[in-house]
Amino acid sequence: MATPTLNWPLPRAVAHRCGGALTPENSLAGLRVAAALGFRAVEFDVMLSADGTPWVIHDETLERTTTGSGRVCETSDEVLRRIDIGSRLHKAFAGEPMATFEAMTLRCHELGLQANVEIKPAEGHEVETGDVVARRILSLWEGRPLPLVSSFSFAALQAARKVAPSLPLGFLYSKAPADWLQRFDDLAGYSLHCAKDVDDAVLAQAKARKIPVLCYTVNDPRQAQFLFDRDVTAVFSDRLDVMADYR
Ligand code: G3P
Ligand code: MG
Repeated sequence: MATPTLNWPLPRAVAHRCGGALTPENSLAGLRVAAALGFRAVEFDVMLSADGTPWVIHDETLERTTTGSGRVCETSDEVLRRIDIGSRLHKAFAGEPMATFEAMTLRCHELGLQANVEIKPAEGHEVETGDVVARRILSLWEGRPLPLVSSFSFAALQAARKVAPSLPLGFLYSKAPADWLQRFDDLAGYSLHCAKDVDDAVLAQAKARKIPVLCYTVNDPRQAQFLFDRDVTAVFSDRLDVMADYR
């Protein structure tokens, strides 16, 4: 299988959860601020509702970031549409709506932002989420350079690959396992995404194969520079205000 490539330049800093320190994480407000600060790419998390609609949210449950409660995968679109994801961060963001994947994508297009779409399946929904998100990407990005699509779930990546042979896939780990490269090759991966305490041995494997490495979550420019000096390609950051040199 030929390796699908990314048809847009990967910047050195990607807004993690759209820049979740300054604005509610995974929000349309985050996209606006990321674009205003000159960022060119954002990362956000996508999960299915009880109706099978892809929404942008990190946790499997609603409590931490929203005024709602319960599991996202057991909550209907009608309920999610009424949820406020702004008040938990600050009253200035009260009324910020939870974004559907479609709304988020269209706003990225309007603002000229590239995306790393992280497939974030609720437990037990890995294949369905990978399949649905990949299908939506093919229609929402038609005629545009495809986003980078990543997941901690191999099953979700497998399902996405089945739907979309041309999708650039990011293999996401907190710590890359010994067989990461074999799994990567099995699905013709594009990039490796991992936590910032990445081993030298893993970086050497990636470098030998010219595989881009992206590390999360880096909110200190000195730490970012330390990673770039070790051949890390890009970092995910919540702190867009202090990472401006790496846009
Ligand atoms: O995709 C990089 C990073 O977002 C992975 O961790 O938990 O913030 O989605 P998490
Ligand atoms: Mg994420």
